Amino acid sequence: MKEKFYITTPIYYPSNKFTLGNAYTNFICDAIARFNRKMGKDVFYLTGTDEHGQKISQAAAVAGKSEKEYLDGMIADAKELWSLLNISYDKFIRTTDDYHEKAVQKIFTQLYEKGYIYKGSYKGWYCTPCESFWTESQLVNGKCPDCGRDVMFQEEEAYFFKLSAFADRLIKLYEDQPDFLQPKSRVNEMVNNFIKPGLSDLCVSRTSVKWGVPVEFDPKHTIYVWIDALPNYITALGYGSEDDSLFKRYWPADVHMIGKEIVRFHAIVWPAILMALELPLPKHIFGHGWIMFGGDKLSKSKDAGVKECVDPRILAPRYSSDAVRYFLYREIPFGSDGNYSTEAFLTRFNADLSNNYGNLVSRTFSMVKKYFDGVIPESNSLTDPDDLNLKEIVDSQVKATFEAMEKFDVTKATTAIFNIFTEANTYIQKVQPWAVAKQEGGQTRLKTILRNLLETIRIGSELFEPFAPIASRKVLDALNIEGNEFANLDNFNGLKAGQPLKDLGILFPRLDVQKELEELSTLA
Ligand code: MSP
Repeated sequence: MKEKFYITTPIYYPSNKFTLGNAYTNFICDAIARFNRKMGKDVFYLTGTDEHGQKISQAAAVAGKSEKEYLDGMIADAKELWSLLNISYDKFIRTTDDYHEKAVQKIFTQLYEKGYIYKGSYKGWYCTPCESFWTESQLVNGKCPDCGRDVMFQEEEAYFFKLSAFADRLIKLYEDQPDFLQPKSRVNEMVNNFIKPGLSDLCVSRTSVKWGVPVEFDPKHTIYVWIDALPNYITALGYGSEDDSLFKRYWPADVHMIGKEIVRFHAIVWPAILMALELPLPKHIFGHGWIMFGGDKLSKSKDAGVKECVDPRILAPRYSSDAVRYFLYREIPFGSDGNYSTEAFLTRFNADLSNNYGNLVSRTFSMVKKYFDGVIPESNSLTDPDDLNLKEIVDSQVKATFEAMEKFDVTKATTAIFNIFTEANTYIQKVQPWAVAKQEGGQTRLKTILRNLLETIRIGSELFEPFAPIASRKVLDALNIEGNEFANLDNFNGLKAGQPLKDLGILFPRLDVQKELEELSTLA
């Protein structure tokens, strides 16, 4: 049986204004999912939407629609966007799906029956747009610390989850499994900022919010935010339903990929819920950084007044989804924050995709066409120091790519892959195939050189496929490589000699940066 791999994004708040920032978590998960599929694993990749709460009701009312009607339109848009961006999820969960609502009710009841949920009364400062309660000390100048807006003091009957009972077990978890929460800096943040100062019990029901899942045994309460949202990772697999075969197969998750602002809920609340339910914990939680636009996160509840065009619906059709996602993998150091700028995107498009990769492929293909009628030459044993050096660098970068992907590090992986393409270009300059072609008896050497280049392109494109699936697949198809899994990455014998290369158009046409910048600014 194939090794399983279960990866999730957070469930997104529905919006029809997704930016590149919102798409980031899905881009990362998509590369990891594709990479693991290519490794031959049985991958299950989950994404979806978080659809309950007061904000949705308010927005639906403004739009003059019922919640369901309002949501259905937005979810259709979100799915269209994910398809435009070539996101290869296996399941899309909506928290308004019937099976999810039923399972969440069961989970809530179970936690209540086990004594982990009790009735009390909630007093606190509430931010309506963020749907968050804050304590006095968390407010910043009396306002919501997340969005800076006014908060209201509220008191109401509510159920609470006994989060405070889990402090010791959580600290032990981080100690026993040092790679549970990554990057490591986030562990200190959890322990020092939240656990050590004392965990408060978590308010998990509301009587004033109607758009939510009712508590089974006390239906004037609706289940509040995190107890509804977090369990999506197991309800999507059928936990709490009649058919829980997917749950049995895929749980525990290999990784929950999330943005850093929701690490607290995933690394504290979620393990506590699972411990209370006596279920296994996910293997890894990874809190990635933010994409900053002109110094701001451009979150959903804030309008940063960004002048750049950050709409993936414009960028992806114009430059290809491959280019957009590659830029983010490469430019935002994985695990940290990083800046997006249109100029940096266009510059990297030209330098990496058009020049480095694109040119390498087109130069090599034209030489094979010119000197060998476009037919793949046979492989030869490598004795020349330049050939051996190329092979050694390819080998080391294949290894580096796999090591990086063990840690989900899409930045290090794409860097290693581009080291391969860079080295191949350097090799061309060194060995000068056009000069060899003119030498008497140079044919044998020329065959070896072009074969080495084609093999390097093959290996690099195999590795690059999870990160730029469309362009890399075109190249692999042109090389007559059919398999879906990584093959022959450790040798220069992966191509069948004697087969003709297929025609390949220009992969990434070079851009006029100034012209693009001007045109894009009118679309921002
Ligand atoms: N609904 C909650 C998650 C519940 S999970 C049980 C939520 N949704 S969200 O729509 O606000 O965020 C979804 C993902 O988008 C998060 O991982 C978040 O970090 C990511 N991003 C949204 N804007 C971002 C940037 N500017 N940069 C990087 N990622 C950010 O939170």
